[in-house]
Amino acid sequence: MNSDLAKLQPYPFEKLSALKAGLTPPAGLSHIALSIGEPRHPTPQFIAEAALEHLHGLASYPSTRGSAELREAMAAWLTARFQLPAGSIDPARQVLPVNGTREGLFAFAQAVVERSGQALVMMPNPFYQIYEGAALLAGAEPRYLPCIPDRGYLPDFEAVPAADWARCQLLYVCSPGNPTGAVMGLDTLTRLIDLAERYDFVIAADECYSEIYLDESRPPPGLLQAAARLGNTDFRRCIVFHSLSKRSNAPGLRSGLVAGDAAIIEAFFRYRTYQGCAMPPHHQAASIPAWRDETHVRANRDLYRSKFDAVLEILDGVLPVERPAGGFYLWPATPGVDTDYARGLFAAQNLTLLPGSYLSRPVRGADPGAGRVRMALVAPLEECVEAAWRIRAFTESL
Ligand SMILES: Cc1ncc(COP(=O)(O)O)c(C=O)c1O
Repeated sequence: MNSDLAKLQPYPFEKLSALKAGLTPPAGLSHIALSIGEPRHPTPQFIAEAALEHLHGLASYPSTRGSAELREAMAAWLTARFQLPAGSIDPARQVLPVNGTREGLFAFAQAVVERSGQALVMMPNPFYQIYEGAALLAGAEPRYLPCIPDRGYLPDFEAVPAADWARCQLLYVCSPGNPTGAVMGLDTLTRLIDLAERYDFVIAADECYSEIYLDESRPPPGLLQAAARLGNTDFRRCIVFHSLSKRSNAPGLRSGLVAGDAAIIEAFFRYRTYQGCAMPPHHQAASIPAWRDETHVRANRDLYRSKFDAVLEILDGVLPVERPAGGFYLWPATPGVDTDYARGLFAAQNLTLLPGSYLSRPVRGADPGAGRVRMALVAPLEECVEAAWRIRAFTESL
């Protein structure tokens, strides 16, 4: 067996099941899960219909590169959304479909990390656990960069020692962040590109929450936008990941994109032909109208805004909740230990939250996820409101 498999941590949801084992919540209350970040707004009908209309595609093998029409739709979306110079994203060389960003983010490390024994892969902490597993299975050492409230829940890149940057081969960033909702500004992103040039590493920007944000007039900036601002219109060392799961409420479609530096995309394409992860033809066909339409995405943001409004009002004064700049999570500090809080809440109110420490790693005695919980506001408004009242009642009872 590959001995690196033994280094993988249990997934947060395995830990959560163990935490809840043996508890019997009140039978009169239906279960509410705010623990899982799975979008639950309906998938737009036009996406489902496009998938159905193209089921005849099952008769052919899809290509790893994806159809030209799909890559054109993805490049056009990136160009419009991130104000890139016209023609700067070449659909033939700089964009590929992925079967959801999870698969792409994992595979990417396998393709880019050189197994030198010295390789570092840096990532935010707390984080989406795929980054860590990808680093470990690529033979690299994960290096966790704490995201704490004092620094706006963003990593302090200036605190990273030069010796660590020198060993860094890949940096994962996530903006808007899961679980914090923090958005990286263009200045930080351009600084990272400078560092990547200086120390010769690749930036993998997980931007899968980029279309869920608070202020309609201020969409979160992206890494390609920062590169273009620097005049790096080849997007050297820059790779972004986007998804239709959150943007279009289509997590079952398993559809996303990876785009940026043509040389890196070409190497990743080579890796992917061997991996055998071409997107099924009808999923490609359904993704094209999804990337081309913004009306459903704006409506989706409105739904999240109304849920944040309602839930924050109910929790006001009970828990220190802050409205995030992006994403669909709340990330409040808990009274006491996060796992005790989550366990107690489940036992008393039949409501599941994810303890923050299941999403983070302690570094030099400090754990940036400890004493926090993640609440995903993915359920319909009424269910989120009911959840907020139960959280309020439980917290007031402590
Ligand atoms: C930060 C982050 N990245 C990537 C993903 C994967 O999304 P998908 O594979 O559906 O595109 C998720 C899903 O929850 C996530 O939270």
